[in-house]
Amino acid sequence: MNVATHNLRCTECAAVITKDDVSSNFRCPQCNGLYEVVYAWSDAKPAATPGAPEHPHSLLPNASALRWLWQERRSSSMSVDQSGVWRFRDLLPIVDDFEKVVTLREGNTPLYDLPRCGKGAGINWLLAKHQGMNPTGSFKDTGMTAALSVAAQRGFEWVACASTGNTSAAMAAYAARAGLRSIVFIPEGKIAWGKLSQAMDYGALTIQLKTDFDGCVKILGDLVKQFPIYLLNSVNPYRLEGQKTPAFEMVEQMDWQVPEHIVVPGGNLANSAALGKGFTEMHQLGLIPRLPKISVIQAEGANPLYRWFIDSNRVMKPVTADTRATAIRIGNPASWRKAAAVIDELGGWCEQVSEQEIALAKAEIGAEGVGCEPASAVTLAGLKKLVALGKITSEERVVLILTGHTLKDSQYTIDYHRNELFTDAEKAQLTTADQARHAALRKPPIVLDADSTLVLRALESHMNQPQPA
Ligand code: F0G
Repeated sequence: MNVATHNLRCTECAAVITKDDVSSNFRCPQCNGLYEVVYAWSDAKPAATPGAPEHPHSLLPNASALRWLWQERRSSSMSVDQSGVWRFRDLLPIVDDFEKVVTLREGNTPLYDLPRCGKGAGINWLLAKHQGMNPTGSFKDTGMTAALSVAAQRGFEWVACASTGNTSAAMAAYAARAGLRSIVFIPEGKIAWGKLSQAMDYGALTIQLKTDFDGCVKILGDLVKQFPIYLLNSVNPYRLEGQKTPAFEMVEQMDWQVPEHIVVPGGNLANSAALGKGFTEMHQLGLIPRLPKISVIQAEGANPLYRWFIDSNRVMKPVTADTRATAIRIGNPASWRKAAAVIDELGGWCEQVSEQEIALAKAEIGAEGVGCEPASAVTLAGLKKLVALGKITSEERVVLILTGHTLKDSQYTIDYHRNELFTDAEKAQLTTADQARHAALRKPPIVLDADSTLVLRALESHMNQPQPA
């Protein structure tokens, strides 16, 4: 298989450069566009009979052989095979030596069914690909193993990122594994404690800047031009190569069936772009017969892509972002053009959801025994809207991408269940039906004296309360 090389192509002016010619900010010098990694198959047309062994491009990886190989590697004891990213390495030949990749055995995340959430949203078949079940608790690990391996094999000593929390946790962990030194820039007071603690635990130099995420990106952009630091934000196209692999894993877990619709949270907008690339490449190689739609959901207070989507002139205007879903508190998303192309080419939508809708959806996902962080819950909240708008029908198979683990932001969960998350003014905006829904889901801890009669009485009163449907 001729899969040993790759190039970088500007996603705006289409200029192609070699991997050694990319600048430290990963921007095209001509047009400031972002790059994507391109391979021999990147411009292949899907086979006329999808999945047919006689793919017209005979030099390209063979779909049946890939399926067999990927399955076979599951029983291997080699770390590169145990990684749910590098198991698919034939479609991400971005490093010189696969045996030296930096891995924490990322990927291999579960695909859960969410029957009650599906029913509540009005569809028959709902699954969640839980990327929060990665080693550092978020989908960022799949991208970080890829880009950090590139950094290590190119001899960098320092790596850095600006982050709303999860990228910094993942980068710090993978840098530590590789013996590299890492610097994280995070907005002061605007990231969840769990994530901040991870960056410190994994030994990163943590710099809290008195600005927001977008301000952190700007400062880091200035720094990488002056110091030999390898930039690990998602403008680095190698991150997306790792983040495309959950698309492969998902359809493999579904016996190579393709869901009709994927719903993804949108922040800096790289993940939706990466998943779109993964599905498109599988389609080009005949691994899947058709493409799913990909829809992106944003928080109302951090909704630049949603504004672009509903604007008849399609102009992107950055916003000053604010949402309690701090992971997606981003007003000027770097990868918006890539995500917009995925929505348009695959035929999805963009929606926005309110703070209350996010909190309700998060509690509903938690009540199915799955749980996720607030930014991930926008997917279920958005799904409800897309079903109500008729964009998704009840028979369609939908997969939500849950991006972060529930323990990432336990303060949010505790505040929600104690009914301390929202202000009185916000609570007053709820309909009576929604108030009842929240009340049924809320499970605040009960403090009692250590007296068995008292405990029994409390239990009796709770046993008589109905369970949420
Ligand atoms: N969900 C979670 C849990 C995230 O941490 C992020 C982004 C997203 C969704 C949005 O993904 O940016 O690719 O659209 N977190 C970044 C960070 C920005 O710094 O951890 P996106």
